[in-house]
Amino acid sequence: MTGRVRKGIILAGGSGTRLHPLTDVTSKQLLPVYDKPIIYYPLTTLIQAGIDDILIISTPRDLPSIERLLGDGARLGIRLHYTEQPRPEGIAQAFLIGEEFISGQPVTLILGDNLFYGDLEGFREALSAGSGAAIFGYPVANPSRYGVAEVDAQGAVLSIEEKPSEPRSNLAVAGLYVYDEQVCELARELRPSARGELEITDLNQAYLRLGRLRLYRLSRGTAWLDTGTFESLLAASMFVGTIEQRQSVRIGCPEEAALRAGFVSPETMMQALTDAPASAYTTYIRMVCEEIASGV
Ligand code: DAU
Repeated sequence: MTGRVRKGIILAGGSGTRLHPLTDVTSKQLLPVYDKPIIYYPLTTLIQAGIDDILIISTPRDLPSIERLLGDGARLGIRLHYTEQPRPEGIAQAFLIGEEFISGQPVTLILGDNLFYGDLEGFREALSAGSGAAIFGYPVANPSRYGVAEVDAQGAVLSIEEKPSEPRSNLAVAGLYVYDEQVCELARELRPSARGELEITDLNQAYLRLGRLRLYRLSRGTAWLDTGTFESLLAASMFVGTIEQRQSVRIGCPEEAALRAGFVSPETMMQALTDAPASAYTTYIRMVCEEIASGV
């Protein structure tokens, strides 16, 4: 990768059938996790890592609602772009749809329903690393639901499989990826899987075959939650609610991340809040602005 990654993609489409009837008329990524729409969380993760040029991909039905919610990013001091994925033809299709946005540069992809909290040092490291691709491994109790990586004693990836019935390890591959400038070229060579999708796991296998796939283990201090089922959606809400109530901080607040990353000044943010609804969320952002402005 030539220098630090500045571009990111949030993939926020999909059919959402597993969450029927919740998703019959709205996007899965706009459902709440405790006090915010799900998409706030991956957006915050990207901003926290210094990504300020972001493409959001979603369905023709849902993209307008997401755009109405997030706007062009100016109020966060970042750039947000929007492109449709006509049909859910696979996660790796993001690199074909996003080719113009990527314009031959390295890029990170985060799934719009994945929630990360805590130490993301590995992600930052991967964004500044050299060439190749990076995936993130996290031990889980039910690896068969995910992409699964097998690593050797030195941490090198030996294999990666999508939802194996007999997983070779308990290391699930999280919905967060970093790729060098070769990604679009490799994505173009992919063929649809048996379920008719361009699989992200096949793209990662292509990097693995080239000897250019690195796995970073997410540390025990990191929480990785997905929201693909009713149970995991509820668990994510309870997790966020517990921390927010206990510590009086907010998880997944893009405004706070943008302020702390220095993308927007407290003065500009305060100005933008003039017409904001008088909610606990607005009060929190004002508090963060005051805290940063006073240099505490
Ligand atoms: O959550 C991590 C897992 O995500 C990885 O471990 C797997 O390797 C990866 O394949 C993926 O598995 P899922 O079964 O969770 O993928 P799902 O089809 O549910 O899609 C994940 C998100 O991406 C979901 O919010 C919808 C969105 N999506 C998915 C597809 C296939 C799209 O926007 N477009 C698509 O075409």
